[in-house]
This record gives sequence, C-alpha cells and structure tokens, in this order.
Amino acid sequence: MLENIDALLKEVQNFQSTTKDEIEQFRLKFVGKKGIMNDFYDTLKRIPNSEKKDFGQKINRLRNAVDHKLEELKQASQTEKTPEKEDLSRPAFPLELGSRHPINLVKNRIIEIFKSIGFAVADGPEIEDDWHNFTALNLPEYHPARDMQDTFFIEQDPDVLLRTHTSSVQIRYMEENKPPIRILAPGRVFRNEAVSSRSHCIFHQIEGLYIDEDVSFADLRQTIQFFTTELFGKSKIRMRPSYFPFTEPSAEVDVYWGLNSETDYRITKGTGWLEIMGCGMVDPAVLKNVNIDPDKFTGYAFGMGIERIVMLLYQMSDIRMFFENDVRMLEQFKSL
Ligand code: DAH
Repeated sequence: MLENIDALLKEVQNFQSTTKDEIEQFRLKFVGKKGIMNDFYDTLKRIPNSEKKDFGQKINRLRNAVDHKLEELKQASQTEKTPEKEDLSRPAFPLELGSRHPINLVKNRIIEIFKSIGFAVADGPEIEDDWHNFTALNLPEYHPARDMQDTFFIEQDPDVLLRTHTSSVQIRYMEENKPPIRILAPGRVFRNEAVSSRSHCIFHQIEGLYIDEDVSFADLRQTIQFFTTELFGKSKIRMRPSYFPFTEPSAEVDVYWGLNSETDYRITKGTGWLEIMGCGMVDPAVLKNVNIDPDKFTGYAFGMGIERIVMLLYQMSDIRMFFENDVRMLEQFKSL
C-alpha cells in the first residue's frame, strides 16, 4: 500500500500536459469525488491506529503534490495568454467614424480650387468694429447701403458688432500687407434676420481679393469662370450689373445650371440660371482707406455664401438643417 503511494507521488510529480482535457482527467483521477484521494481518506478511517500516522503523512504528501501540480499547470496556461503572445496586428473592435459637416466639405473644396491658382487663406475676427465692417469699405455712417445688412450690435455700443460679411477681412489684410495680394477669407457672418428655410441669422461666406498692378475686370471674369467649372462642372456664366459700395463696377454672377430636371426648374425658378456671388473691381476709395495707391494698383473682390452652394450641390431645401446638426443628416456625408 505505502509503495503504491510512492509510485503515485512520482506519477503526480512527473505529470506534464498543456491540454485542458488531460489536466482535467488528472484532477478527477486524484481529487475528483471518486478519485484516489477520497479512497485513501476512506482507508485511513479503517486501518489500525498504529498505522494511521505513517499512512496519514504519506497521503498528505500526495495531496500536497497534487495541489501543487494543479497550481503549476494553471499558472503555465495563464502565462500563455500574456500580451506578448497576442496577435497585435488583428483589427481592433469597430470604431464609429464621424463625418465632416457639409459646410466644411464645400468650404475646403472651394479653398482647394483657389489655392491651385495662387490664393492664400486669410482670417479675421467675428466680433468687428465699425471701421472694418462698414466705414473702410466705403459705407460711412448714415450710408443707406448699411441697411442691406441688418446688424447685431454688442451691448448697445455702435462700434462693437458681429461682422455682417467677410469683406471686413479685406480691410484687415490690406492694412497689414502690401500688393500683390491674393487671398481667400472663409468665415462665419451674422445678420439680424428672421430665420426661415432660406435665411438664417448665422451663415458662412467666402471672400476673395486680388490686388496688383493692371488687374482687370477680364481677370475677374476669367477667375470666376475657372472656379465655376471646377466646382460645378459648369462653365457658362453671366455677370449682371449690380451695386456694392466697396466695388465699382459691381456685378452679380449667375451660373447656367440648365433645365434638365424638375429640381432644376425649382431651384432656378424656371430660368436655368443661378446666382452664386457678388463681385466687382475694388473701389478706389477703399484702397485709399488702407493706404494703397489706387493710381498704381487695381484689384477685384468677390463674396459668396457657402450655404447656398451646399444646398445646390446636395439638393437640400432648408438652410436650418445646417444648424440643427441632426445626426441622420450628417451621417449622409460620411463617405465624402
Ligand atoms: N459682402 C457682400 C455681401 O455680404 C458680398 C460681396 C459682394 C463681397 C461683392 C465682395 C464683393 O467682395 O465684391 O453681400
């Protein structure tokens, strides 16, 4: 009997396995309900007292060896799962990607187009003073054209306001830089207007400005033609005479959109033509205001609303959608 236990002890000490099944068999064989150890405990009760001490010591040693071995095997199977052995190149759990706002998508596209012909991006503050938003742009106090843009003033101070257009960046840039100047100024603008499907009190514009020697109206037209061809794939444009205090002559630009679908009829009001921007030759009075010599330099400027262009490109009918940020709308721009 005692030799038998010695043999079992050897068996336990020499046992090696990495498979779960074998380890479980081993555990059942020794310490399972019907295992060897329980048999030995039964035997212990029945043998004469004189043999109990030796026998008890032996089976305790066996029991400890079994526990020790099981612990050892458990540790080994755990170290196998250490991070070093994990496949770090496997794909992570799926991450939800966001999407760019359609206003930004179109803004970036417009910047790209003008960058390709040498325009740089300029920036200005959204909280402006009267000089940069109005006066320097040839809109002195009491000029009736100030009513074209209903203004938000801050704290009753007529000199602190939210810019009504990005044309203010023209002034800031010309004050700091000498010609040649070729900039694009995208940004938010603010007008005290009733919110509806076609107008909002906050919206986005992109301003363009080119000042150099001998810049002509033909250059302006050519640049706009290039732009509309790149952005819309439509190169037929027309310029209608218009009025802006900061340009002379001034024009509004229409793109020929065509009348190929019912939507075309609706968005062009049945004419096939769409207005996309205001523009003109920078008024000499504006150049004087920023100490640029109008006898030496000429230039053109243009300004367009981004929302309008996004609505055209993506056939959206309500400007308020841009500001509600409904995820169901934004998600549609994921792949762009
Ligand atoms: N600032 C004008 C507006 O908000 C748009 C504009 C028209 C800008 C003609 C220009 C321009 O630079 O030349 O309606």
